[in-house]
Amino acid sequence: MRVLGIETSCDETGVAIFDEARGLLAHAVYSQVAIHAEYGGVVPELASRDHIRKTVPLIRQVLDEAGLAPDSIDGVAYTAGPGLVGALLVGAAVGRSLAWSWRVPAIGVHHMEGHLLAPLLEQPAPELPFVALLVSGGHTQLVDVTGIGCYRMLGESLDDAAGEAFDKTAKILGLPYPGGPELAKLAELGAPGRYRFPRPMTDRPGLDFSFSGLKTFALNTLRAELAISEDQAQTRADIARAFEDAVVETLVIKCRRALRETGRERLILAGGVSANRRLRERMSQAIAAEGGATFYPRPSFCTDNGAMIAFAGCQRLRAGQREPLAFKTRARWPMDELAAL
Ligand code: KG4
Ligand code: ZN
Repeated sequence: MRVLGIETSCDETGVAIFDEARGLLAHAVYSQVAIHAEYGGVVPELASRDHIRKTVPLIRQVLDEAGLAPDSIDGVAYTAGPGLVGALLVGAAVGRSLAWSWRVPAIGVHHMEGHLLAPLLEQPAPELPFVALLVSGGHTQLVDVTGIGCYRMLGESLDDAAGEAFDKTAKILGLPYPGGPELAKLAELGAPGRYRFPRPMTDRPGLDFSFSGLKTFALNTLRAELAISEDQAQTRADIARAFEDAVVETLVIKCRRALRETGRERLILAGGVSANRRLRERMSQAIAAEGGATFYPRPSFCTDNGAMIAFAGCQRLRAGQREPLAFKTRARWPMDELAAL
């Protein structure tokens, strides 16, 4: 089975073709960063309009790259939620309509299931069961995964998601949108240990997270230190480093705890923040020290992309799931509502 995947849930238009027998045949992502940068964050209406401009040309592009005609596509998958509804509607309308006109089945994919399955596109792919840490701009979730669609929520963020905390703290530090990667770059110049930020919710049992206090901590530290610091650029970098270390160590502590509590040996990380170099380094070390193994998507498949949607869609289409002609999109969509395959 060969599936076209379309991702338009936020500020990236992603399109890919996944072939069950041959793997990924082509993929392309168009990032809207330049459009939203002057506003300091994603403007939903501008996002939708740009998806309208980019989705069909990107579909043509990946078909060309794969050397395929539309009649060799066996199914179409598009992100149906969670995300910005206007943005989702673009990919869903294009995807559902193409499937109808090509007379192939369509499937609406859960964006976070897309992220969760992305490590399975890599070699070696992790075997089931495993624990998944999903860290994106909208979600921070620890999930026990025993099969596709068999997701038991172990813990999640009670307030800001990890990516959101990166983005908000980046803004406080005066960095441009998108904040996460910019903050990570600045943290490279920071001295470790000059400031120590809290590791929220690690001193009590449980697997939930809370990151919103860290941005307040960053703001207060910045205000106090800028008033007395001689090298303001270095102070900002040191605060970035302290923030990143706090998020990374908090995630590491919770992941080790999740593996211990579930008895699993494998951990996968996915979602935009899993592209973070320090997180990958520290997590792999810490899990290996306990005899476990850690798996990641390649960095370009950590952030939003069409490949993960084509792959997840292929699994569900193969299992016989189909979207009716009257398609739906959902801004909110709890992952445990998904059907097990
Ligand atoms: O998965 P994703 O592309 O979109 C959502 O589903 O939300 O994740 C985007 C998030 C943003 O908050 C972004 O700042 C963060 O991932 N991010 C990073 C890095 N790359 C992306 N955060 C920290 N370090 C990075 N290298
Ligand atoms: Zn995402």
